Amino acid sequence: MERDVRLNIAHWFDAATGSLSYVVDDGEGSYAVIDSVLDYDPVSGRTGTTCLEPLVQSLRARGGRLQWLLETHIHADHLSAAQVLRQAFGGQVAAGCGVREVFAHFARVFDWEDTEAAAFDRLFSDGETFAIGALRARVLHVPGHTPADVAYLVDDPQGGPSALFVGDTLFAPDLGTARCDFPGGDAATLYRSIRRLMELPADTRVYLCHDYPPSTRPPRHQSTVAEQRAANIHMREGIELAQFCALRRQRDATLSLPRLMLPAVQFNLMAGQAPHASADGVPYLRIPLNVF
Ligand SMILES: [Fe+2]
Repeated sequence: MERDVRLNIAHWFDAATGSLSYVVDDGEGSYAVIDSVLDYDPVSGRTGTTCLEPLVQSLRARGGRLQWLLETHIHADHLSAAQVLRQAFGGQVAAGCGVREVFAHFARVFDWEDTEAAAFDRLFSDGETFAIGALRARVLHVPGHTPADVAYLVDDPQGGPSALFVGDTLFAPDLGTARCDFPGGDAATLYRSIRRLMELPADTRVYLCHDYPPSTRPPRHQSTVAEQRAANIHMREGIELAQFCALRRQRDATLSLPRLMLPAVQFNLMAGQAPHASADGVPYLRIPLNVF
C-alpha cells in the first residue's frame, strides 16, 4: 500500500493569554501537541480545561497516538496542560535542555529542595532530531527571551515548505519580538537566535507562540521567514544588533510582570503540574513575598 504521509497542522488561540497551541499530525495517526494551555484562576487557585476542550475533542476524533507534548519554553503567562493531556492520551513531555538552567534559578527563588528538572521525559539539545510518527523534526535552541527557548522545525514530507514553531522569539511582524527582561533573558542573544531562524529558506512557514492582536486586525498564528525578514518591526533586514537591543530595552522597560508568572513558572517547570503536595494531598504553589 502506498503511504500518504502529510504534515497537517491545526491551531487554537487562547484569547485570555494570547497563546497559540498546535497539533502536528503525520496523517498516519501519530501526532504532537505544541504549547497546550490550561485555564487558571489566580483568585480561587482553580485550574480548568475550558480553553483546552476543543483541542482535546480534536485529539479524540483523531484516534491514533499522541507521541509528544512539546513545550517551546517555560511559559510565564499561562499554565501548561501537558500533564492533563498526558494522563488522557499518553505521550512524552519534552522541552529544551535550557530548562535545567531556568529550573536551577527558580528552585532558589521558590526555595525548592529539588534542583533538577526531573519531571520532563526529554530535554532536547540544540540540533537534536526526533520523529513525530513519519515526520522528521529538528530542535533549534533559540535563547534570548529565556535561556530555555527552543524552536521546532518540522519538514514537509510532500516537499512543501517546512513548518517552524518559533516559540517566544518572533511575534507577528507588526508586534516584533518577545521580551528579554526575564531571568537569564538577553536582547543580544535573542537577536542572534532570530537571525539564525531568518537564515532558513524564505518560504519556511513560521508558526507563532503568541499573538496580541491590536483592534485593527484578527489574531494571527502564521507568517513566513520572508515576511519576517521584510516586515518585522524589530528584526526586519537591515536592523543591526545595537538598534535591536535599544528597541528591546525601551519596550521591556514599559512591561509589567505577567499576571500569572509566579504560578505559571512553578507549574511549568514541573512539566505541567504543581510542584509539591503537602501531607493533606493538596498540591500547593508558593508565592515569595517582596522578591519581584
Ligand atoms: Fe514566553
